[in-house]
Amino acid sequence: MRIGVLTAGGDCPGLNAVIRSVVHRAVAQYGDEVIGFEDGFAGLLDGHYRSLDLEAVSGILARGGTILGSSRLERNRLREACESAPDIARDFGIDALIPIGGEGTLTAARMLSDAGLPVVGVPKTIDNDISSTDRTFGFDTAVGVATEAMDRLKTTAESHQRVMVVEVMGRHAGWIALESGMAAGAHGICLPERPFDPADLVKMVEERFARGKKFAVICVAEGAHPADGSMDYGKGEIDQFGHERFQGIGTALAFELERRLGKEAKPVILGHVQRGGTPTAYDRVLATRFGWHAVEAAHQGEFGRMTALRGTDIVMVPLAEAVTELKTVPKDRMDEAESVF
Ligand code: F6P
Repeated sequence: MRIGVLTAGGDCPGLNAVIRSVVHRAVAQYGDEVIGFEDGFAGLLDGHYRSLDLEAVSGILARGGTILGSSRLERNRLREACESAPDIARDFGIDALIPIGGEGTLTAARMLSDAGLPVVGVPKTIDNDISSTDRTFGFDTAVGVATEAMDRLKTTAESHQRVMVVEVMGRHAGWIALESGMAAGAHGICLPERPFDPADLVKMVEERFARGKKFAVICVAEGAHPADGSMDYGKGEIDQFGHERFQGIGTALAFELERRLGKEAKPVILGHVQRGGTPTAYDRVLATRFGWHAVEAAHQGEFGRMTALRGTDIVMVPLAEAVTELKTVPKDRMDEAESVF
């Protein structure tokens, strides 16, 4: 078999572990040939690829980022790809394509699959917002980075009697904010799923100071919004990939809290630091298992599906099912952390 692999969308720790696992399983077990398309679907459309043998993937298990490069696909290029989907497999001589990506990539994968390309998807995103899989690799690493950052911010916040507003990633789903906020013992958590009122945060900080706890850490997801009329904060325009351009809720909220409290409030934007660096052991294992199962699925002709974690098992689910809706934080998970909302 000849298998093509690519990584698309925002990178995330564990991508290289999947690539390595695909190559190991395909080459060592089946004697397959594997090629890697460069910079996501752009490599597929422009014919930029390279051969991936065991030597090419040696030493990459613990490396962050992706050795293949990644990019987001503009909508018009996706249409172009779908039109030429039947030719792509023939042109490159591939029997299967394994795209590794998040919601956008899996949607593209589904469209390409419907258009006739033999596709087996692998989900990834630090946001953990892909439905049909209990976890995506990259999430554990991001939560660890954000938790460590808040642990560190607590000690300096306490020294200076400050409020720290820590903005973490999470466009539509607040999983990173929820879990890192819980792990770090943040005093407030704001998620995209539930508009927040800055007045509640002001009350919480004032109560803490009155009890002699003269600092606070508030974890806010980048996609969180204040409740209507509670604070001046606009919605951003939509970019060419269909994503809202955020206005910087961490900075806006810190400014608002400082104004209302008369105490220093500092914004800390963690940004892409959450996506960089080496994956945790958990993410390396999950990524490796996904790669192994993707190759098995290709050999069994299970196309139009993606790998997913269900409990402790890896199963194959239809791509169509995976991209119908995002997995957002349900109310019961927020209730468990109620004291900090
Ligand atoms: O989807 C993953 C993600 O990291 C989001 O949390 C974040 O909003 C987005 O990607 C950032 O993307 P970019 O790298 O294009 O700035």
